[in-house]
Amino acid sequence: MTGVTSLRLVPIIVVVALVSIHARASGTSCHFPAIFNFGDSNSDTGGLSAAFGSVPPPNGMTYFRAPAGRYSDGRLVIDFIAESFGLPHLSAYLDSMESNFSHGANFATAGSTIVTPNITGYSPVTLGVQLIEFLEFHERSRAIRSRDGIFKELLPRNNYFSRSLYTVDIGQNDLTAGLKQNWTIKQVEASFPQLITQFSEIIKNAYSKGGRSFWVHSTGPIGCLIYMLDRYDDKFGFDEHGCSIGINELSRNYNRALREAVEVLRKDLPESSIIYVDVYLVKYTLITEAQKHGFKQPFLACCGHGGKYNYDNSRRCGTKITNEGKEVLYAKACRDPSVRISWDGIHYTEAANKWIFNKIVTGAFSDPPIPLEMACRKMAR
Ligand SMILES: *[C@@H]1O[C@H](CO)[C@@H](O)[C@H](O)[C@H]1NC(C)=O
Ligand SMILES: *[C@@H]1O[C@H](CO)[C@@H](O)[C@H](O)[C@H]1NC(C)=O
Ligand SMILES: *[C@@H]1O[C@H](CO)[C@@H](O)[C@H](O)[C@H]1NC(C)=O
Repeated sequence: MTGVTSLRLVPIIVVVALVSIHARASGTSCHFPAIFNFGDSNSDTGGLSAAFGSVPPPNGMTYFRAPAGRYSDGRLVIDFIAESFGLPHLSAYLDSMESNFSHGANFATAGSTIVTPNITGYSPVTLGVQLIEFLEFHERSRAIRSRDGIFKELLPRNNYFSRSLYTVDIGQNDLTAGLKQNWTIKQVEASFPQLITQFSEIIKNAYSKGGRSFWVHSTGPIGCLIYMLDRYDDKFGFDEHGCSIGINELSRNYNRALREAVEVLRKDLPESSIIYVDVYLVKYTLITEAQKHGFKQPFLACCGHGGKYNYDNSRRCGTKITNEGKEVLYAKACRDPSVRISWDGIHYTEAANKWIFNKIVTGAFSDPPIPLEMACRKMAR
């Protein structure tokens, strides 16, 4: 038996090796037929909105002309990723209205954490829940597609699970939840091993369902975001640009742990291509060199009201108040979101997201330095 098995394996290995050498040499792009995304509001295309209350206007004003489940005036980085492959924008798994999952699904929800935090105010759809949803999605897609009927065409083909791009962008809310509990930076860092273990589960499980191509975003410079500056002011010190030194250090330390986890996963999952993308550096560059890149007022929320950042945590973008019996929009949008970075003090504008996408798509911020369209290729290391 053993002899037969190894004989059968030999030609397959040779073919696989030839294919990947060919791809590397000729630069063939990957043609991903679908994308499966896991994350938080940085990539939520309507999950939280569908299940826990609509994202209010003026969100969506720039591109969709109406709220579209995204915390932004327009498209997110994940939308630009989908567009770059000629794929439709991803439907949110939790959205049962008008969803079409034939080219992927989005499990991200705004406020998602990797593990359940010890305080309220975050999405219950943790990365652990997103994993359960993905496994359910995988199982039932296959079952539904094996029958005829109207739902078949709304689900991915069976072989898409192995040919898809799997994207992950999560961690920001775990760090902010730690700080919100008045943990010291050191205490937040003590939670990293638990976060990394759960993060790794997503990759391992997707791999076990055939997934081979992974695109992992680092967490951003949270210490440059208005909601953090508004809450903590100079508690952790300011750098020369006005970002929080301590909070950004926390983000970078988390990213170091994430990058090490990716290294381990590459060894454990030998057929995987796992690309770590230094989104931190891209966003930090954008915020701290705003003028140079055609943007204005990086520390002023476009949509908001009051205070030194045009941000009021208890009355965020889209909040209405009743004035003399009339409902009026209290926290509204600035005139020109296209030259602004911060949409609502927490999330980025479409213009910023597009700028970020244009940087990361090239592979210049990736480890290994592979462009997005080649993300299915392992690079000789
Ligand atoms: C689902 O989306 C695909 C790709 O955009 C499209 O070809 C198909 O017609 C859609 N199905 C339905 C029922 O809208
Ligand atoms: C969670 O919160 C409760 C109540 O505030 C506290 O007693 C407990 O120690 C906290 N647990 C952790 C792990 O911080
Ligand atoms: C954290 O500290 C602030 C200020 O001392 C306090 O108001 C808040 O209740 C504390 N939060 C928790 C979760 O202990």
